[in-house]
Amino acid sequence: MCGIIGYTGTKRDVVKVLINGLKRLEYRGYDSCGSAVLNCEGKIELDRVKGRVDLLVQRVLEKNYKNVSCGIAHTRWATHGIPAEENAHPHTDCRNEIVVVHNGIIENYLELKTELNKHDFKSETDTEVIPHLIEELINQNLRKEVIIKSEFLQPVFFKAFIDVVSKLKGSFALAVMWSKVPGVILAARRFSPLVIGVGEEEFFVSSDVAGFLEYTKKTYFVDDDEIVFLDPKNIAFFDINGKKKNKEISLISWDIKMAEKGGYRHFMIKEIFEQDIGFENTIMRRVLPVDSNLFERETGISDNDLKSFSHIHFVGCGTAYHACLCGKYLFESFGIAADADLASEFPYRQNVLDKNALVCVITQSGETADTLEAVRIAKRNGNKIFAIVNVVGSTVSREANWVLYTHCGPEIAVASTKAFTSQLAALYVLLLHIAYKRDKLLITKAREYAKELIEIPKVIRKIFKSEEYIKKIVDDVSDKNDFLYTARGINYPIALEGALKLKEISYLHAEGYAAGEMKHGPIAIINEGMPVVAISLSTSDLELMRSNIEEVKARGAKVIALCDDVSSKYVRADWKIIVPKVSEWFSPVTSVIPLQIFAYYVAFKKGLDIDKPRNLAKSVTVK
Ligand code: M6R
Repeated sequence: MCGIIGYTGTKRDVVKVLINGLKRLEYRGYDSCGSAVLNCEGKIELDRVKGRVDLLVQRVLEKNYKNVSCGIAHTRWATHGIPAEENAHPHTDCRNEIVVVHNGIIENYLELKTELNKHDFKSETDTEVIPHLIEELINQNLRKEVIIKSEFLQPVFFKAFIDVVSKLKGSFALAVMWSKVPGVILAARRFSPLVIGVGEEEFFVSSDVAGFLEYTKKTYFVDDDEIVFLDPKNIAFFDINGKKKNKEISLISWDIKMAEKGGYRHFMIKEIFEQDIGFENTIMRRVLPVDSNLFERETGISDNDLKSFSHIHFVGCGTAYHACLCGKYLFESFGIAADADLASEFPYRQNVLDKNALVCVITQSGETADTLEAVRIAKRNGNKIFAIVNVVGSTVSREANWVLYTHCGPEIAVASTKAFTSQLAALYVLLLHIAYKRDKLLITKAREYAKELIEIPKVIRKIFKSEEYIKKIVDDVSDKNDFLYTARGINYPIALEGALKLKEISYLHAEGYAAGEMKHGPIAIINEGMPVVAISLSTSDLELMRSNIEEVKARGAKVIALCDDVSSKYVRADWKIIVPKVSEWFSPVTSVIPLQIFAYYVAFKKGLDIDKPRNLAKSVTVK
């Protein structure tokens, strides 16, 4: 939710850095955007638009700003106040001297606003209290100085900023400039992501590393309640009381090419076709019993920890929750008790949470507010947290006891695809370790599974070949408005995921249902010609799925059956997408990919903005 980028330095064109950063962060929110640059004479130039970054770019480039010393910019996903120019960031104080960009929600903004009744507010946002509060405190402090010398200004600004941050309740990542101190950016965070990029005599502040990856890989991850001071030559970190802190720099392994479209029309289709690599990189050198060292070294989890938990409790949101559900089926099929909860519903379960359960959170971004809250609730309860995360250094990865990174590279499209299959890959790795260590899996069987797992990337590449056939199905059904997805067992979460993919990028009505539930209600919505996507692979429940398909066909449904080369002989359907046959517990990987491709081409045919669907943002960092 919302992307922040800021730059101070003399090496580069500040405006270009902000524009490039905004373009890379646009997936975080895209209903309005804006920038503020400060020239060496101390004049702030503010530009804001309702709409996409391209609109802002046109406006800013026309103005051709010169002698700019630093700047901050923002791309918004609206919470307080409709998408409109006056609600777009940066927000300013009464005199347009202090500018602020913010990601998060200031919960006590109404209370703070009442203290500022002499100030001139121009927006409906919660954010706007921040520049006015800073202005108020600066004015109070400056009045105390008899002669206002320029060397006083920087400490006065810093002190006012720290005091304001201490007053704020809620979540925030902030970057702030004051026209009286050119070159200086102050930043802070609480519960919203913020990272600093370090170059030669230049610094970047951003919501994530994608904002500056083309310039530097050297990064500081800002912690909660940490204040950052930046000017072209200096960087310093402070706690909320103003006490200086030492921090360690990290090196990011992602490459800027990974965050580019590389010839594809959309990030989503590029990311779908990267799933073989993402899967391979996630299992590589981690698969027990073939090669287990890396898993232990990376996660640091001991054999005792793998053996001693009472059960495993998966928690996540959206697509990551569907991976959690797959995890539940997988672990239970090996006799290991498992639960799966939506992170937003997890708080309601805390009274019965067994503190000996291993809480396994799954998240691509590692910044999802509900997932983060689940981590904190479970930790307070005494649970240990195992996190499956994609973004290195993200908040969840830093708060969990153990982390297994999915190595699928940056996922830019709002609709999650490669993150999901790499989460499944991570679950297989974890399962093999746990089941083997807990004597739920004999070494011979474990070797067999490991061997098959290693072959899955090849299977994925074969599935990519069904793209042309899927496009033909899309041509036949693209006039339909309602879709039903159905499956059983471990593929039931894939029915949910297939429906989620379709609705989020094509805005069509799509529902996922357990096939056994159809006769308990949903079958009533079937009418002549309604497309029903039925996952009917050669799993233990194929016979039941076959009957379910006959039942919907008898009521006029047009069935798109997802079969493998064996099950396709048993199933009657209007279209059959055929994938290679794999063991049942790997089947979610083979069944989800055609459904992602299907959703992509439905949205493509409708000419929709696939990578940035309406009303959505990539990381949901507010509750
Ligand atoms: O970053 P996370 O994995 O925690 O994000 C969870 C969900 O917000 C995410 O999977 C969302 O549902 C996607 N838009 C689905 O495609």
